Amino acid sequence: MKTVIITGATSGIGLETARILTRQGYFVIGIGHSKENCERAKENILSEKTDAKITYFLADLMQQREVLRVADEIAAYLHTNCNGELYALINNAGCVRSWYTTTDEGYEQQFALNYLAGFLLTHELLPLLQKAGGRVIMTGSESHKGIKVHWDDVMLRHGYNPLTAYKQSKLCNILFAKGLNDRYAASGIRAYVVDPGLVNTDIGNKKTGGLVNFIWALRKRHGVSPTVPAKTYAFLCEQEVAPKGLYYYLCKENTYSKQVTSENADRLFTLSERLCGIHYCMEKMA
Ligand SMILES: NC(=O)c1ccc[n+]([C@@H]2O[C@H](COP(=O)([O-])OP(=O)(O)OC[C@H]3O[C@@H](n4cnc5c(N)ncnc54)[C@H](OP(=O)(O)O)[C@@H]3O)[C@@H](O)[C@H]2O)c1
Repeated sequence: MKTVIITGATSGIGLETARILTRQGYFVIGIGHSKENCERAKENILSEKTDAKITYFLADLMQQREVLRVADEIAAYLHTNCNGELYALINNAGCVRSWYTTTDEGYEQQFALNYLAGFLLTHELLPLLQKAGGRVIMTGSESHKGIKVHWDDVMLRHGYNPLTAYKQSKLCNILFAKGLNDRYAASGIRAYVVDPGLVNTDIGNKKTGGLVNFIWALRKRHGVSPTVPAKTYAFLCEQEVAPKGLYYYLCKENTYSKQVTSENADRLFTLSERLCGIHYCMEKMA
């Protein structure tokens, strides 16, 4: 049985992706930051399919020590139960903020959760992915287009704009996927980004206030059901031969920003390694 980890699998896109993948027979490990929401999500999936293979691990992925802890716990679990193999890692957990807020490490929260958590988690689980010739899938957004990485102030400490922070975190996701492919595609790992489109979830109404909260409450009504983007994750998981594209929307390759170059990907890798205190050890191959 193939194992898939999904971060932010308690609601919205992550929950529906967990549902579709369990229906297709995958063993899904969800990660969530609220015990209550994890339990509710698991019950929700099992209520439809009593033999669904699903379990949840608890971690506040905004904090790096929590990412490291849960990665250790999951790795130990996979070594005991799944031959030490991880077929796919879906870095989906995300948030929106209205103001400049930081994690315990002092990192801006949208950057920390939407991008950096996935960078660190992937690093920690890389040996298990390598063993399975696995896939890494990031949840991106069309909003990454029309923005550049603010290299001199990546946390946007000077002049914070919540939308800019969100867009930049999503651009970083694609640069990360590009950097992973440059380094590891030759050794069998492939990375992708799913653009979910506009989806009717509560993301902009959690821990937000003011204008952001108000605008999202209106905007989400025009969004599709999270079951729609869930099909694209399933598509990327179920292909026998790993697809060669990078950015997918509605199960098809799509165009992405011209900012997505190997040069920018390398620059972001170096910066992120420093911010996480780690080093991706394999040499660049392609
Ligand atoms: N909705 C859209 O239109 C849209 C469009 C493009 C991209 N996206 C992206 O899609 C992804 C999923 O978002 P969604 O729209 O499905 O919203 P969502 O329902 O709010 O999903 C976000 C998930 O992340 C979890 N999460 C939040 N903070 C966390 C933390 N500190 N540690 C661990 N998990 C945490 C949430 O858990 P709780 O529910 O327990 O808080 C939830 O499971 C995000 O990356 C988002 O940026 C969404």
